[in-house]
Amino acid sequence: MTAALVEVRREGAAAVVALRREEKLNALSTALEQAIADALDGEAVRASACVVFTGGPRAFSAGADVGELRDMDPAAILAYYRATGGVYERVARLPQPTIGAIAGYCLGGGFELALATDFRIAEASASFGLPEVGIGILPSSGGTYRLVRLVGTARAKELVLLGERFDAAAAQRLGLVTEVVADSAAVGRALELAERLAALPPAAVAVAKQVIDAMPDASYDAGLGLERLAYGMLAQTADAAEAAASFAEKRPPRFTGR
Ligand code: COA
Repeated sequence: MTAALVEVRREGAAAVVALRREEKLNALSTALEQAIADALDGEAVRASACVVFTGGPRAFSAGADVGELRDMDPAAILAYYRATGGVYERVARLPQPTIGAIAGYCLGGGFELALATDFRIAEASASFGLPEVGIGILPSSGGTYRLVRLVGTARAKELVLLGERFDAAAAQRLGLVTEVVADSAAVGRALELAERLAALPPAAVAVAKQVIDAMPDASYDAGLGLERLAYGMLAQTADAAEAAASFAEKRPPRFTGR
């Protein structure tokens, strides 16, 4: 039943997780969230070096399913976060790099899903916005938290309180998307980036990602300590030793004097 809501395919070293509820602009119902969670548990994602999340040409996602939101009392909301509402954090915590390939509407919870990825590539005609406050709620799938860290509190208030729609170029100016590409090109560009990431030493990529994610909340001492400990571990990997050896080989012999 949920399988049809998300399509997962391997493309080289990457897994592509495509939302397939296009008739509802990929509105994030609990069934769709469960389908994303199932995709994360599947072999294609677990064995991949990079995960690309995408939607369709009309919508990456138009946000939480407003029909479902209407019927939730406090107990149902608590149950929701215990069930499928945590999937955004599971995406954010994936050990391998993740890329959002965004076309069309990227609104509300859909934008929050995109913010949970490491890189966001948007097509020129993509449209972003956080309409939650306008309907009496707020972004609550990690979006408020991540937005503040990406753009600061003043910009976050502007985007969340006013809820205005903005285009891909504005999203890039705000630092909310990594790159803007022509329409229909986002998945292709994401896969190029995925192959580049996959060619890098995997432990260094995974550890660097984890260390960067910990930094905004780390104290100076904890942050520097984490960096040094991570370095201590990575420097001992075969990839680091090999890279150091081949670099030394390529260097011309040192002038040692007469
Ligand atoms: N939840 C549930 N269904 C949604 C949805 C959402 N967030 N967004 C779109 N849909 C559904 C529509 O109800 C419609 O279904 P129907 O064909 O069965 O009536 C279908 O998707 C297509 O949407 P439609 O509104 O007809 O497309 P549009 O091109 O005229 O408008 C939007 C597109 C995105 C502007 C409009 O759908 C919209 O404002 N959606 C809600 C966005 C939102 O508030 N998201 C945040 C929720 S917290």
